[in-house]
This record gives sequence, C-alpha cells and structure tokens, in this order.
Amino acid sequence: MFWRSRLEAAIPGGAHTYSRGGDQYASLAPEILVRGKGAYVWDPEGDKFLDYGMGLRSVILGYADRSVNRAVIREIKNGNSLSRPSITELNAAERLIELIPSAEMVKFAKNGSNVTSAASKMARAYTNRKYICVPNQQPFFSFDDWFIGSTAVKRGIPENYHELTLKFDYGSIDTLEALFNKHTGEIAAVMLEPATHLLPCLDSCKKISGNLDCLACPNHKENFLKQVQALCKRHGAVFILDEMRTGFRWHLRGAQEMYGVSPDLTTFGKALANGFSVAALVGKREIMDLASIDKVGTERVFLLSSTNGAEMSSLGALLETTRQLESDKISEYLWDYGTKLRDGFTHLAKQAKVDQHIFLDGPSVALELTALDINFQASTKFRTLFLQEMAKNHVLIASGNTFAPSFAHKERELKATLDAFSNSFLVYKNALERDIDLYLEGEEVKPVFRKYN
Ligand SMILES: Cc1ncc(COP(=O)(O)O)c(C=O)c1O
Repeated sequence: MFWRSRLEAAIPGGAHTYSRGGDQYASLAPEILVRGKGAYVWDPEGDKFLDYGMGLRSVILGYADRSVNRAVIREIKNGNSLSRPSITELNAAERLIELIPSAEMVKFAKNGSNVTSAASKMARAYTNRKYICVPNQQPFFSFDDWFIGSTAVKRGIPENYHELTLKFDYGSIDTLEALFNKHTGEIAAVMLEPATHLLPCLDSCKKISGNLDCLACPNHKENFLKQVQALCKRHGAVFILDEMRTGFRWHLRGAQEMYGVSPDLTTFGKALANGFSVAALVGKREIMDLASIDKVGTERVFLLSSTNGAEMSSLGALLETTRQLESDKISEYLWDYGTKLRDGFTHLAKQAKVDQHIFLDGPSVALELTALDINFQASTKFRTLFLQEMAKNHVLIASGNTFAPSFAHKERELKATLDAFSNSFLVYKNALERDIDLYLEGEEVKPVFRKYN
C-alpha cells in the first residue's frame, strides 16, 4: 500500500484517470508502474507484467514502438509547437479525411472528452436544440458537465445540466423513438458507441466473432445503427458516433465502415496515436463548417481552440501509427488474437469445470469478463479473485477494461495468458467450493460511476 497511499495523498483519486485508480485493480496488481515495452509493463521493484490494459486501450501497436518513437522525436526536433499551423497538422488532418469515409473536416484535441463535448456543442449549434441522447448501456462519453450530470456522480454540477442528456436503451429503437416523440423538435443529437459487447445487428451479429465480413450479414437491414441513422434523419437530429474505443481496433476505417453507416460527426482518440495524446472530431462539412472563419457575416461557433491541440509530436505519432495500422492490417490481427484468447479461455474453463461461472462475452475484439458465484449471481468478489490470480501470474487486467491486446501480443503472450487462466481457474474452483474470503487477499474492485466512496 506504500505507493497507493502516496498517490492518493498527492492526487485526488490516486491517478489522473479514475479507471487507473487503486479501486479498479485487485490487490496483487502493481500499484504504480515505471515503464512499458511491447506487451509488458514493469513496476519499481522490477517485476514484469503482461498487460491487457494497454494505456486504457490507447496503445494498439505495443508500448514504446520504435518507429512511432522515431516519428515523435523527429517532430520534437522540429520544434513541437509552432506559431502558425504546422505541415504535420495539415498532413494528419488530411490523413484522417483519407481514412474515414464520413470525415470531410477534422479538428484535433488532446482528450476524448474534449471532442465528444465539442460534438454535442456542434450538434446544438447546428440544430438550435438542447437535448443529447445517449444509451444507458454505455457508461462514459465525457468528463464535462453535460454528460457527468446524467450519471450517478452529479456533485458539483448545476441541476439544469442534469436533464439535458437523455437516456435510451442500446438495441431498442422504440426507446429512442419514445424520446423523439416526447421532446419533438428539441433533440439536437444522438451520440453512441457503434458497438461494445452489445452489437448493432442483434443475434446475427454474433457471427462477427470469427467473421469480419459484417456487411454480408443477412439481417443487415435490422442493423440498430442504421435504424438510429434513419431516425435522426427523419427528426433532423445529428447522428454522432463515438469511436473512442472501436476506432482502429474494430476496423481501420472505424466500426462505421463495418456496419455500413455514415455518421454526421464522429469522435476518435485512444488508439489513434499509440498512446500519444490525440483526439479528433471529424464529420460532414455542412456541420463542421459552422466553426470556420471564412463565411463572412455568419454567426460563429467557438469550437475547440487550445495551445497544445495540434502538438506536432502527437500528430507525428498519429501519422506513423495509422501507417502501420494500414500496412500491417492490425485490426484483423486483433480480431484473430481475441478469438484465440476466447477459445483458449472457454476450453480451459471447461477443463477446470468453472465454465458455468466464468466466461468471456462479446465480440473477440472487445471481450468482457463475467464472473458468477456459486448461485450464478454476478459477483464482484469473484471478479476480483480472478483478477488477483491473474496478477499473481503476472498478467495485468483492469476491472472495467478487461482485454485490450495490442499487435505486440504474439503467440508467446497468448500462451502465457492461457497458462495464467489455467492456474487462476483452479483457485476460482476452490473458492466456489469453499469460501471466497479464504482466497481473496484484498479489497473488492469498485465501479467508477458510484455516488459514494
Ligand atoms: C467511449 C468513450 N468516449 C470518450 C472517452 C473519453 O476519452 P478521454 O479519456 O481520452 O478523454 C472515453 C474514455 O474512456 C470512452 O471510453
């Protein structure tokens, strides 16, 4: 607890991201890290862990990728932040326009929250309406008041913000339609992640686990995203996809390409620059243009504007990362690795006779862990036990962000993970048969979005 207490004394929450905090990891996980290389991270004692958090999913190629680092250093040597727009900034914007079919203009920022907040502002400016709709099942879009005011953690946010973000159920177009009927002419936008462990094409999309060819799916017409797109169009609302987590992991051109939709605005971040700080708002010119300065006489929207928003080193990382994502077909690799991970997990869980109590759900590129107790009830204690045992085997998994492998996770890492599963399942089985408290060595992990500590 030495590091954790120092961290929590110096930094509220003990980290600059709540999902990096001490309540998100089992007690045997390292409390602080010194460095990362490839698929591994090291703590100050020199202990090495195979990492599945990968910088909150941002490190898609592997830590300290040599070519990305070279590109970053080149930009640092060129000054990193100049007085006018840089060539790197222009190249990076044009690169995203080339890659993402719905991107006609681009605005960069440093954090995902900044661009989702910017997207909601653009939608409000474009429609002159106030409400933003987001799904109940997707926990996070921004640290800003417009979104956090709609969660359990409202403290510090004026009440008039609480009602401006409306919730519907992902996969149920009726619940979204009900909001449009209740607030006719007042909904500015629908913002959602294209997919999580919940998929837009209902049952048929289960095929996606081993099959990238989603557009060939026979029920494609029932695709929830297409339904949302059509509903937004009918009601004059802006259709926004938040591809912070799906971007570049699901498909080089975004999950929007797989599901055949064309959002008005999209937000990207995380894997875009292999752990360097870049987020992007991209979208249709008709909307993005509201923030332009060349339309004489039109009322302006003050969009993103920050000193470091187009920092050259991070955008150099973006250019090199997207080059590798394309040339090495990284998203296909990640689907394949995830499939092997899930197959191995399922096989070993069956062997250990715990497969009715612990399993991986969702598509192979976004696997989710479910941990049940002896009565088949979801159990935070059993979830924590599994994470604890994996940490004992030097595999680092965060509670809320189960598996985010990178291109640096190869056969050797897969085998090490499967060995760790095997060892952890033995303890899980003992805990099911006896008393979990005999096996749990620290506190249970906790949800990020809770009202009270
Ligand atoms: C879906 C989604 N949107 C937005 C964000 C915010 O991104 P950032 O942490 O870069 O501000 C996150 C972060 O986890 C996210 O998962």
